[in-house]
Amino acid sequence: MKIVMAVIKPFKLEEVRDALTSIGVHGLTVTEVKGYGRQKGHTEIYRGAEYAVSFLPKIKIEVAVPSDMVDKVIDAISAAARTGQIGDGKIFVSSIEKAVRIRTGETDIDAL
Ligand SMILES: Nc1ncnc2c1ncn2[C@@H]1O[C@H](COP(=O)(O)OP(=O)(O)OP(=O)(O)O)[C@@H](O)[C@H]1O
Ligand SMILES: [Mg+2]
Repeated sequence: MKIVMAVIKPFKLEEVRDALTSIGVHGLTVTEVKGYGRQKGHTEIYRGAEYAVSFLPKIKIEVAVPSDMVDKVIDAISAAARTGQIGDGKIFVSSIEKAVRIRTGETDIDAL
């Protein structure tokens, strides 16, 4: 099992959710976050020097899936979240050791 964590532009959330639903993702977690990437939010000139680190609002999506679905999930998120402009976001993938569905006690892939 893998957990795919994506940071996207907030207005892309519905499109990304629809794309994930259409490939069979059953659940996901969404968090409002703030962050910056290479442009550091934006840059501005102050007394001749570049300053400014500002946090921009983003949405973090976490979706746990069987390992063999990871590529499909990455493709779905990338296609739905891409505008081609800076700040489109990033996707990080990590391994999950264990998953439990609390109501039924099912574990691992059956719990997803
Ligand atoms: N190395 C990182 N670690 C953790 N979060 C990151 C990292 N890079 C980007 N993020 C998160 O992703 C959001 C979007 O990043 P962003 O798409 O601007 O990355 P970028 O490298 O600057 O790419 P681009 O040049 O396309 O803007 C950031 O606001 C931040 O929340
Ligand atoms: Mg950026």
